[in-house]
Parts: sequence; structure tokens; C-alpha cells
Amino acid sequence: MNNEFDYSNFETALAEPDASSMIETFRAIGYSIETAIADIIDNSITADAKNIWIDYIWEGPNTVLSILDDGNGMNNEQLIHAMRPGCKNPLDIRDSDDLGRFGLGLKTASFSQTRKFTVISKRIDCKICFWSWDLDFVNKLHSWSLIKYCPKESNFTEKVEQLTSGTCVMWWDLDRITKDTKEDSDDSKNKFLETMEIVKSHLSMVFHRFIENGINIFFKGRKIEPWDPFMIECDGLQPKPEVKFQDEQIIIKGFVLPHRSKLSSEKYNYGKGPKCSWTAHQGFYVYRKRRLLVAGDWLGMFKNEVHYDLCRIRIDLPNNVDEDWQIDIKKSIARPPLKYKDQIISVAKEVRTQALEVYRHKGKILKRKLSKDEYFPFWEERARHGKRFYKINRNHPILIELFTRSNGLKGDIEKVLQFIEETIPVPLITLQENENILPHGQPFEGKDHDAVRNAMKTMYQNLIMNGKTDEQAKLFILNIEPFNFYPQYIEQLGIE
Ligand SMILES: Nc1ncnc2c1ncn2[C@@H]1O[C@H](COP(=O)(O)OP(=O)(O)OP(=O)(O)O)[C@@H](O)[C@H]1O
Ligand SMILES: [Mg+2]
Repeated sequence: MNNEFDYSNFETALAEPDASSMIETFRAIGYSIETAIADIIDNSITADAKNIWIDYIWEGPNTVLSILDDGNGMNNEQLIHAMRPGCKNPLDIRDSDDLGRFGLGLKTASFSQTRKFTVISKRIDCKICFWSWDLDFVNKLHSWSLIKYCPKESNFTEKVEQLTSGTCVMWWDLDRITKDTKEDSDDSKNKFLETMEIVKSHLSMVFHRFIENGINIFFKGRKIEPWDPFMIECDGLQPKPEVKFQDEQIIIKGFVLPHRSKLSSEKYNYGKGPKCSWTAHQGFYVYRKRRLLVAGDWLGMFKNEVHYDLCRIRIDLPNNVDEDWQIDIKKSIARPPLKYKDQIISVAKEVRTQALEVYRHKGKILKRKLSKDEYFPFWEERARHGKRFYKINRNHPILIELFTRSNGLKGDIEKVLQFIEETIPVPLITLQENENILPHGQPFEGKDHDAVRNAMKTMYQNLIMNGKTDEQAKLFILNIEPFNFYPQYIEQLGIE
């Protein structure tokens, strides 16, 4: 219908964005420095770079950070085009290996961290070229104007010149992370170095499949080692079969990682990953053309719970489903389309069950060792004057603990227990058990398990304080009702 619309009779008025306001808005897109650098590296990989060098020179507010690559580079005209915000239409069909989508990343990622940045590039057999965006200059002119400037003190032009082809992105007014810092302050410098460590481990995760395939990313001259969330090389890993949909373009593969007891402490710590926690790393890992977008997240489908720590699920996407999956400019969000949600949930449930089984199994093994030890049921059957009664076990460790803290209330508690015992509707329960088709649930089934877990934790701490070893304490707890129903929680005792 639009094609038939006749615009010629209308008066028109230009409503162009104001350059400085627009760039200030770019700055609020929400990149962190690590996601911003990853966005720049996407461009290097798309340009076929084999080597990428990230360097920085700490000089307080004058710190410079650069990302240099030996990719195909750009000539002058291409570079000016590349510096334009929105230089490509997100609806364009891209090469299947292109990691870009919006024609924005170079600019939005850079402006998220800097007020001024320069791109130097060289295409094979072409002259080196460079252009800078300077937000102060844009503010002055109120126009989308680049300046042909490259900071003199840097030797980055020489570095690019030495390559057959390549590109260097130089961030040189890093106000977001160096504002109010002092070059000679240890505190400022240490904070900056800590941030750089975060960047490094983020890149080792986001680009692990490229690094494993031979792309070198150097951080201050040292090669970044890949961090593989699935620990593919480890013995004891249980990979699940691939599930494919949308013409086999989308591939899901679940992994149940090896239990702690099967890993050396070095490997166990490796598994904690950049987020330094197994629990924070459970969930889906969404890759777009092997580039990691989402690193361990249940995408709103499930909650993070410790007993699913061993569960990690890979989702591989091509680069032509970005709209369906709502990929964002920062390449850090992916939302599965409604039409695949059920399929994804059912794959995940299977992997989660298997991951949980590992903990259950461990608990059961531990429990078997204990057959000779005393078992503490909560209820006991007793006979009185030829009749059956049910009594609460006064030797149950939870009651013993309660009585020691009862501060004179022991008699009252005892009275309440007796009332519960004497009025428990055994005939009604028996009738229901026989006639109701609904099965009887196990203790705390379908409820929040926090109460069980907290009680287990308190008991564990008390036992350890009273001189029991870790194993003795765990065995004791596993022999107490209702904890015996939840061997999967035994694992976490003593770790949290
Ligand atoms: N390191 C580089 N080497 C060669 N060309 C590059 C490099 N960086 C950027 N370009 C060119 O500049 C263009 C714009 O990059 P930019 O990151 O702004 O957008 P994009 O990668 O196309 O999409 P997205 O916004 O999703 O990142 C790229 O499409 C590419 O043609
Ligand atoms: Mg890009």
C-alpha cells in the first residue's frame, strides 16, 4: 500500500537528530567495558582477522586503550562509511559469517567508553587512513563531523602500517573508567587493572570457540586462553544428543558436567568461570555464529538452584534469526521466540533431571555407607493397651535441638506435641490413602525447600562444631527424616 501512496502533495520538514544529543544517547545504551570491547572484536573477526591485540597504556585520565587486528581493513571511503552511525540496515541480508547486524557497534561501543576515539585502517595495496570521532568537536559544531586526527604520541599508525592489512580502534578519552583517577595513585591503577582482568576473562568466554579454532587474541602481549563452559575435554562429562529445529538451523545440546568428586580442584575452579560460581554459570549458553551472547542464564524459564549446578545447555543460532530472538545492539541478550519455548523447556527439563540425578546418586552412595547407623524417623508407631498410636520421635535431632533452646518452654512444647499425637486423624488419612486417586506427596514436595535446606545447614554446622568430620556430619543428616528425601542438598553443605 505504501508504494501506491502519493507523497508529492505534502509539505515536508526535516527532523534530523541533533548530533550531540544523539551521541550522548548512544552513551546510555548500557555497555560495560567488556561487552564494548567484545563488540569491537566482533568486527575484527568478521573482517577475517587471525590476530587481535588489545593493549593499554595506564596514564590515569590520559589512558589509551587500543584494539588492533590484522583483518581485511578498510580504505578511506570505507572507513568514513564505517564511522557513520547506522551505516548498514539491520534488515539487510548479511554473509553467514558476519557477526554484525545494526551498523552501529563500532560507534555505540566506543562512545559507551570514550568521548574521543580514532580508527586507523589499511586495506591491502591501499594507503593507510584514519578518522576520529570527538564528542567535544561534535558539540561545538552540532554536526555529524569526523576529524582527520590521530593522537601524535601514539605509535599505532606505525603498528597498522607494519601489517599487510588491518584496523586499529583507539579509545583515548576513557572518561567512563578513568575519570577522577590519578596516574600515580596505586588505588586508581589497581582498580583499572582489576577491570582489565574482568575484560580478559569475559573475552576468554565470549570468543572461546574462535580461540579454540586458532584465532589469537593477545591481551597486553599475552595470548588469552579459551574458557569452555562445557569442559568438553573432561572425563565424566555427559553430553546429550543434539536437538535441531527450524530447518536444522537452531541446534540445542545439553551437557551434564562432571561431579566435583571427579574433578581436580584446579578443574573444579576452572568450572566456576568468569562469574566465579558454578551456580551463576548453570543454564543456557546462546551462541550466534559461535560467538557467545548469553553465558549461563535460564532465560526466565527456570530459577537458578544449586542442585542444577552441573547443567549447562548450548543453543547455536545462525545470524538470520536475530529479529525472532530479539538480539540487542550490545549482543548480550537473546530471547527465544514463543514458538520454540515449549521445545526448549522440554529439552532443558531432561538435562536438568539428569544433572539432579548425579547429586541424588552421590547422596545415595553416601547413605548406603550408613546402614548400620541409627535412623531418625519423625514419627514412630507404638502400641498402648492393645491399640496402635503414632508418636513424634523425642530423640529426633531437630526436637533435641529445640528442647535445648526452649528456655523453660519444654513443658509447653511437650504438651503441644502430645495434642498433635493424640488427635492425628489416622482413620481419615488411612481412608484417603485407600480411596483417593491422587498419590500422596513426599515431605515438602511442591513447596519451597528453603526450610529443609536451612535446617540441614544449621544441623551440619552444629555437628561440625561438635567435632564431627564432614563425612560423619553428612551421613548423620542423611539418616534423619525428612532430610533423607533430599540427598541432593547434602552436596552443598560446608561449601556455601
Ligand atoms: N576491524 C574492522 N575491520 C574491517 N572493517 C570493519 C572493522 N570494524 C568495522 N568495520 C566495518 O564497519 C562497519 C560498521 O561496523 P559496526 O560495528 O558499526 O556495525 P556492524 O558490525 O555492521 O553491525 P553491529 O552494529 O551489529 O556491530 C562494519 O560492517 C564493517 O564493514
Ligand atoms: Mg559490529
